[in-house]
Amino acid sequence: MPGIALLGTQWGDEGKGKVTHLMADAMDMVVRYQGGNNAGHTVIVGTETFKLHLLPAGILYPHITPVLAPGVVVDPSVLLEEIDALALRGISAEKLRISGNAHLIMPYHRELDRLTERRLGKMKLGTTRRGIGPAYADKASRIGIRIQDLLDRKIFTEKLDVALREKNLLLTKIYGRLPMNADAILQEYLGYADRLEPHITDTVAEVHTALDAGKNVLFEGAQGMLLDLDHGTYPFVTSSNCVAGGVCTGAGVGPRMIDRIIGVTKAYTTRVGEGPFPTEDLGPDGDLLVERGAEFGATTGRKRRCGWFDAVIVRYAARVSSLTEIFLTKIDVLSAFDRIKVCVGYEHEGKIYETFPPHQTIFHKAVPIYKEFEGWRTDISGARSWADLPKAAQTYVESLEQMVGVPITQISVGAEATETVTRLAPVTPRSAQA
Ligand code: IMP
Repeated sequence: MPGIALLGTQWGDEGKGKVTHLMADAMDMVVRYQGGNNAGHTVIVGTETFKLHLLPAGILYPHITPVLAPGVVVDPSVLLEEIDALALRGISAEKLRISGNAHLIMPYHRELDRLTERRLGKMKLGTTRRGIGPAYADKASRIGIRIQDLLDRKIFTEKLDVALREKNLLLTKIYGRLPMNADAILQEYLGYADRLEPHITDTVAEVHTALDAGKNVLFEGAQGMLLDLDHGTYPFVTSSNCVAGGVCTGAGVGPRMIDRIIGVTKAYTTRVGEGPFPTEDLGPDGDLLVERGAEFGATTGRKRRCGWFDAVIVRYAARVSSLTEIFLTKIDVLSAFDRIKVCVGYEHEGKIYETFPPHQTIFHKAVPIYKEFEGWRTDISGARSWADLPKAAQTYVESLEQMVGVPITQISVGAEATETVTRLAPVTPRSAQA
């Protein structure tokens, strides 16, 4: 049962698309288990670049079964657009499996996401405005509409009616907007149903069948640890669980089915949207990171906020998700710096924090304590083995590893799949060591 989880350990955008691509050859199934089209996974295959938002990266490979599990929220218009765009490039989505239990993003979710952000003004979260939060909120309130409801016109009509009665009150009375028309939504969504029906299935059963048969199943995370609803920098988070535990609830597998947990970690830190970010650099170093790292969101095109590596948050991610290994990305971006800073702890009102602070206010006001490393000031994109890396880069990697307490097995030195250094063999999971 080789179940492998792959997840971001910072605020998302760590380069999970590249890692999925690298692992794809050995995989049989790739499962998205949380989030929706707020994600943006850039995958470069040969000379082609693909930007996927909702579909699992596994869709690009004919031998892989791509799966959207129950924990995902699905905007069917986006899903079909992505499928059609891939078809134009000769990639078939025929094998795509979609859980009937996944929730639908409805037009009122998108509208309410936008309106709520506008109402919050200065207090806004900086969401992707894709309706993610409102869709998960309806799921928790038990007035969500699921993929399987598309297959039963009567049920879909009833559920839409219940939801829309509340949403139209909100839209008209609170936000002063026009109400939404149930018939128009019904027609639009039942149109999607015809196309989606062949893909709708019991994905939990299919994932277990694959695991039981010894197939390699990759659980592809979206966003990152600090955007986790329960463990991230709430309220500046997304509305799903990005930690390894999210694999269990989102895909319907128990913890024992996950063999390896790979944390994808950027060699510095970025964040999109609002919220605290202790190591953010608002000076020329931050600008250089944006420029060299091409730090613009794949989903919204927003410029990412950039700063130094924060060992406290990655250590926290390693703990909460029981990481077995780390894939370190974009270290080549740091080649331009004479000195490289790493945050090893925070100071707040005379107290030092080496672990993630228990109170939000402390994290908001935390002053990073930096350790400085010598830069290597040379192009390392041609490095393919550990020995090819300059001593200063090796020291940087070894120091991060020590600070985080998890082996760094692979290091990415460029966007292409080949631009990767394999440092250590994949870690044998504890379950297999016994
Ligand atoms: P939402 O997920 O659209 O509700 O946005 C909530 C927060 O998560 C915002 O700060 C977004 O910028 C952030 N976010 C959502 N998806 C991603 C992602 O894939 N990468 C980075 N940030 C994300």
